[in-house]
Amino acid sequence: MLSPEETREIDREIAIVPNRSSASIEALKTVQRHRGWVTDEALADVAEYLGMSREELDGVATFYNLIYRRPVGRHVVLVCDSVSCWILGYDRIRAGLERRLGIELGGTTRDGRFTLLPMCCLGACDHAPVLMVDEDTHRDVDDAALDRILESYP
Ligand code: FES
Repeated sequence: MLSPEETREIDREIAIVPNRSSASIEALKTVQRHRGWVTDEALADVAEYLGMSREELDGVATFYNLIYRRPVGRHVVLVCDSVSCWILGYDRIRAGLERRLGIELGGTTRDGRFTLLPMCCLGACDHAPVLMVDEDTHRDVDDAALDRILESYP
């Protein structure tokens, strides 16, 4: 069941789009912000609230790769693997993260603190290599910066 707060936030989005289903991505993001990821049950609740079928909404969730349909850590680290970042040090950054976190891409640390995922262009190509932690974009990242970045997400 959607919480009153989730419902309020989704209603605010519905108010500014042409029809309820147009709020689907924001509604999924709202649920994810409150719960960490989108369970089957939550997806069904959102679909019902928006007047969509589960299948339709699941299609949206699958297409939009920032909606997590499996549990993730408290913080999600997205490493850009698109062209500019690839050329300017993606491999070093990925390897540095994997070594520090003790996981590979797609994994979650044992303590549930971090999930590490690859991501296509994060929109800051002129500052490659780039990674995101939760909502924060980190630009011009080098290996030396990784400790400081990770430490700031307890
Ligand atoms: Fe990495 Fe665009 S290629 S941010």
